Amino acid sequence: GLKFVVIGGGSSYTPELVEGIIKKRDTLPVSELILVDIEEGREKVEINYNLVKRMFKKEKMQTKISFTLDRKEALKGADFVLSQFRVGRLEARARDERIPLERGFVGQETTGAGGFAKALRTIPVILDICKDIEEVAKDAWLINFTNPAGIITEAVNKYSNVKVIGLCNVPINMKYDAAEELGVSAEKIRTEIMGLNHLSFVTKVMLNGENKINEILKGSKLDGKDTMKNIEKIDDFEEYNKKIGLISSPYLQYFFFPDKMIEKELKNIKDGKGTRAVQVMKIEKTLFEKYKDVKLDIKPKELEERGGARYSEIAINLIDSIYNNLNNEYVVNVVNNGSIVDLPENVVVEVNCIVNNEGARPLHMGHLPKSVKGLIQQVKSYEEYTIEAAVEGNREKALIALINNPLVRNVDKAEELLEEILNQNKKYLSNF
Ligand code: G6P
Ligand code: MN
Ligand code: MN
Repeated sequence: GLKFVVIGGGSSYTPELVEGIIKKRDTLPVSELILVDIEEGREKVEINYNLVKRMFKKEKMQTKISFTLDRKEALKGADFVLSQFRVGRLEARARDERIPLERGFVGQETTGAGGFAKALRTIPVILDICKDIEEVAKDAWLINFTNPAGIITEAVNKYSNVKVIGLCNVPINMKYDAAEELGVSAEKIRTEIMGLNHLSFVTKVMLNGENKINEILKGSKLDGKDTMKNIEKIDDFEEYNKKIGLISSPYLQYFFFPDKMIEKELKNIKDGKGTRAVQVMKIEKTLFEKYKDVKLDIKPKELEERGGARYSEIAINLIDSIYNNLNNEYVVNVVNNGSIVDLPENVVVEVNCIVNNEGARPLHMGHLPKSVKGLIQQVKSYEEYTIEAAVEGNREKALIALINNPLVRNVDKAEELLEEILNQNKKYLSNF
């Protein structure tokens, strides 16, 4: 059977992943599952371990389950390594959201200056993990869910020999939304999605050989259902999607309506709700209280309040397609290799891929839609500079990265922002 190692096993998403493993048991034989975390995550990983044990017992699963703080030992001979860790935990996320907001910028954990700070903290850690994988599990696949997922996947590709695929649940959620708008089940349609992680667009929705995207855009009900649980909805978003003829990832609201998004964030702070990190801290507390309950032996419903819905579905389907050589089509983050002709070959993009035991091969997507081409190219420059800055501990490149980020741009303000980010993340950014 297969050995799965989860880095960040103390994450509240672990039961979601385990539910996926259970559902796929007939074709995907997981013989061992190890949850890895660090000292600060010991309590959470132990709670998860006990819950998973109960979930496995209920389903009469034979999978051996354990948890450990010894990462390298755990990685030995792994077949699949799943990364879902967060450097600095939710406290760091709260800072990533607050620091930009206090200076008039979007405060989001994966886009803008917040995502930038998160990338700087995370890249050295993921590259360290990759060194371990290269040493003790060189044939393993790294399935990366750690954000900013596109940037992290690109860093691994450029600076290690580990086989990696980057994952996000937005594409599959956009597909389910499109199916819902058409009133059919998701298996009936095929969507084409292209762009970067948290900056992607549905360009086609095929049903019985016909492209239905305009029908969806026209008929789209402004019902707020389409948005992920973690992003508040802007009313004019769908109107703008109609104008460009694309279904944009909900994260595009930060780029198309930054002022309104900032206004919503500030209002949440004023009303005492706090930024998303603060809200998630509360949800997490409730979740772990549930997880501790010895009578609980399924994934609790409350987990659906998190933005990561369908994470396990995409992760486990992807692994199934690799292991069983299924050639299924999924939208994941991989090296471009000419798929999007308007972007460099060696960068990571989020596009439709054929997945089999050689990995995920991107389909040829061609040109980016003109209406979003400049935006995507600029964000990719930001991403490339961010990776170089993180690897080299290079302040100049860090500044250039922020200037290329459409949610920052101003040199004088960016300098101040960068200082503050480096200051408040000193513990994790000793290389700067
Ligand atoms: C979506 C994104 C993930 C992100 C999550 C945040 O699922 O695709 O990349 O981690 O939302 O959700 P949260 O509940 O933590 O705000
Ligand atoms: Mn995501
Ligand atoms: Mn709708």
